[in-house]
Amino acid sequence: MEKERNRMDDKKKAMATGDRAVLPEGARTIPIYVMGKRYEVPETLTILKAMEFAGFKFLRGCGCRGGICGACSTVYRKPGDYKLQVGLACQTVVEPNMYLAQIPFYPANRANYSYPDIKPAGEELFKLYPEVFRCVACNACTKVCPMDVKVMDYIAAVKRGDITKAAKLSFDCIQCGLCASRCMAEISQYHIAQVARRIYGGKIMPGSGHLQKRVGEINSGRYDGMLKELTRMDVKAVEKLYVEREREPDDSMPGQWLPKDRQYL
Ligand code: SF4
Ligand code: SF4
Ligand code: FES
Repeated sequence: MEKERNRMDDKKKAMATGDRAVLPEGARTIPIYVMGKRYEVPETLTILKAMEFAGFKFLRGCGCRGGICGACSTVYRKPGDYKLQVGLACQTVVEPNMYLAQIPFYPANRANYSYPDIKPAGEELFKLYPEVFRCVACNACTKVCPMDVKVMDYIAAVKRGDITKAAKLSFDCIQCGLCASRCMAEISQYHIAQVARRIYGGKIMPGSGHLQKRVGEINSGRYDGMLKELTRMDVKAVEKLYVEREREPDDSMPGQWLPKDRQYL
């Protein structure tokens, strides 16, 4: 018995990887099914950690582990429920008897274009993605989106040629591709939205005066001396400089705080 317990302990240590895979004291296990095969996993883990606990290694289908990169899209069904559920494996906690499969990549039409030549006009999007007019407003894309992006609404904005609206509505998109996987009109919504955001960011949104000023200063060599000095310093000195740097207090009013050392402002 003792031997068996030690063996199990060793097994747990060897399999627990990642920042939140340490088993909590007394954790219960539940069954889940990964691509049809049953595994017993601790009930508190995310799908990603549970799969790692079960022995899977992520070479694809995992990136940031923080709900940002869109690499870990997962579809699953629960017993007795006709509904196909979706989630990000790094954010969704396992449930008993869930049947799941990961969809880290979904093939979707991606247009080729030359960004400098593209004009800030809706017609440009129509030319690149004429299939956008196949949308039947079923809303399946919005329902499936793990980021609660109003996908159907940004596609409607694209159809109206409203690039600004499409860019703003799709701002939280993490390019997971799940919307495209559900679209009966076979539209690759997230690629279209990405072009809209690129056009909006580079060709519609007013430029930032502060940024242009700072880029000009960088190009004029204002910081060259400081950078040379930094690269000559040893690691310890750079660490000290970093740790002792002046920091903006958390409660300062936006735009009001200035450091004491203003030689590089
Ligand atoms: S809009 Fe599509 S690609 Fe973007 S996060 Fe939502 S489902 Fe994923
Ligand atoms: S899933 Fe496709 S057809 Fe349905 S609303 Fe979204 S873009 Fe339109
Ligand atoms: S690993 Fe990046 S969103 Fe899940």
